[in-house]
Amino acid sequence: MSDSFFPQDIIIKKRDGGALSRAEIEFFARGVSDGRFADYQATALLMAIFWRGMTAQETAWLTDAMMRSGDVIDLRDVLGPKVDKHSTGGVGDKVSLILAPLAAACGLKVPMMSGRGLGHTGGTLDKLEAIPGFKVQLTVPEFRAILVQVGAAMIGQTPQVVPADRKLYALRDVTGTVECIPLICASIMSKKLAEGIDSLVLDVKFGRGAFMKRKEDALALARAMVDVGKAAGKPVRAQLTAMNQPLGRAAGHTTEVIESIECLRGRGPSDLMAVTYALTGQMLLLGGAARDLPEAQRKMEAAIASGDALEKFRQMCTAQGGDVRVVDDYGRLPTARKFLTVRAPAAATGFVREVDALKCGHAIMALGGGRAAVTDRVDHAVGISDLVKIGEPVTPGKVLCKLHVNDDERGARAEALIREAVVIAPQAPEPEPLLQELLS
Ligand code: URA
Repeated sequence: MSDSFFPQDIIIKKRDGGALSRAEIEFFARGVSDGRFADYQATALLMAIFWRGMTAQETAWLTDAMMRSGDVIDLRDVLGPKVDKHSTGGVGDKVSLILAPLAAACGLKVPMMSGRGLGHTGGTLDKLEAIPGFKVQLTVPEFRAILVQVGAAMIGQTPQVVPADRKLYALRDVTGTVECIPLICASIMSKKLAEGIDSLVLDVKFGRGAFMKRKEDALALARAMVDVGKAAGKPVRAQLTAMNQPLGRAAGHTTEVIESIECLRGRGPSDLMAVTYALTGQMLLLGGAARDLPEAQRKMEAAIASGDALEKFRQMCTAQGGDVRVVDDYGRLPTARKFLTVRAPAAATGFVREVDALKCGHAIMALGGGRAAVTDRVDHAVGISDLVKIGEPVTPGKVLCKLHVNDDERGARAEALIREAVVIAPQAPEPEPLLQELLS
């Protein structure tokens, strides 16, 4: 009988290193929403979990209980394999904007619920909102209708989906309990499993610009999420990717929308396309749209070459109220007042050794394109384009990047950060593989 618990008993049990029962975990997940678990008790338990951890079984129960704290979208009547992708986030990570229409063009249904940017990492919803008129706050029936009609829909979480996470994340954010693998796993997976998907591909990033700085932490998170998927009966694959430099050559909102459209036209930077193909390829395998990776690769390349993937992007944009003319006229996107070209100093020769993704993310924030608090507004027009990549040769005056600037003082601060981020050395560095372990 879950109603008979006292929060303090559950806190003490976890504080002393015990494993919680399913009923205790359900009482906690329900209690944070209905008030039987006061905020101070919930934060005490979160801190106990932070220190003591959770078993794989406890994590799976917590995920399930959080998922069932609100609406679970039922997409069983939508025909076709419903496969989504989630990334733990980074700088310049615009993969979702390319992957969703690409996967839909290859025969999948992609019901994608995304988030907003916070701190140095960007958010898919903010990027989509750079497109005039694009609506990300849709009702579930609207979401479902676009999914049926187009094959891909990209929206924000509705307030009814996983309310327990909204509450718990807000508490974790201000009590030093964010960086805890079972809590991160339950937070991400409860939201993804509530979307009504059949299977899921995860992009778990590590490095300077990622949420997880250390590869071993990213691996542990990836394992925990794959295990939770298994416990829920949903196939989940996790691809580890390096995030020491920004993905692609653009970061911001307008700049990333443009780079995404360029990818869909077949003119994308190789690192961004490599991650997009790796993740979309796994989605096609999970959804049964390809038998093996070579077939998946052929299908994806054909969808780009034929223009089918770009056509899906146009359809999704139109269905969600966006001005589709931006696809052929980038001038219709929010545009900054001026460009500031950052060049290598006169004495610089050698190679790019580092492009610190965290500092690039801070440069975006300095320009006004980031969010320090959830309530902040972002300037969609500002950003970075034409960014150099690690390993490129440098001669004096080489363009390191272009800053899209609306305010001179902010532009100067961003330039200083870019100059710190881009390190030039006499020798080319050892290349770091972008795509690392794949867990399934
Ligand atoms: N993203 C989430 O959705 N939840 C976390 O706990 C961390 C990152």
